Amino acid sequence: MNYKIRLATTEDAKSLSAIEQALFTGPRSEATFKSSIELDDNAVAIVAESNGAVIAYADVYKAYDELQLNNIAVLEQYRGNHIAEQMMQILADTGRELECQTITLEVRESNEPAIKLYEKCGFHRVGMRKNYYSDNENAILMDKEL
Ligand SMILES: CC(C)(COP(=O)(O)OP(=O)(O)OC[C@H]1O[C@@H](n2cnc3c(N)ncnc32)[C@H](O)[C@@H]1OP(=O)(O)O)[C@@H](O)C(=O)NCCC(=O)NCCS
Repeated sequence: MNYKIRLATTEDAKSLSAIEQALFTGPRSEATFKSSIELDDNAVAIVAESNGAVIAYADVYKAYDELQLNNIAVLEQYRGNHIAEQMMQILADTGRELECQTITLEVRESNEPAIKLYEKCGFHRVGMRKNYYSDNENAILMDKEL
């Protein structure tokens, strides 16, 4: 399939918010994405684009020497094409360029596709936060040395 991965721009904010609304509880608004892309020097967002449409995105936040994964999502009909894996590789390279030591993330205990993705990308389980999500599901904490 034909797609390219590039840095997000403020023009992508609407698409990113729409994808979060479709896939996640507590989605970020268009305005939140816009201001983070435009104004926050510690935030990096990338998108995969196909035929002019955003089909996937991932975003991170740099906190000292740690790169925190905020979210990653691929629209359902485009999954299984290694788009997420490629975006994770790009974010790891970004982290190294920003001189981060680790990438960290939280994932729902039941989210097997995401946990498998992170394990394939070299992440290890380092802990758990009980009742972390608003519906009381536990979060698995994972990280990867850069
Ligand atoms: C998790 C998600 C981002 C994966 O995107 P994707 O582009 O389909 O994943 P990839 O094709 O890059 O998969 C890479 C590897 O991840 C693992 N994986 C991905 N989807 C999987 C699934 N449904 N079941 C088991 N393993 C899976 C596999 O190891 C796969 O490698 P392989 O195909 O060589 O076996 C996607 O399912 C998604 O958007 N889910 C909803 C949003 C979400 O839960 N995001 C994570 C929030 S923490």
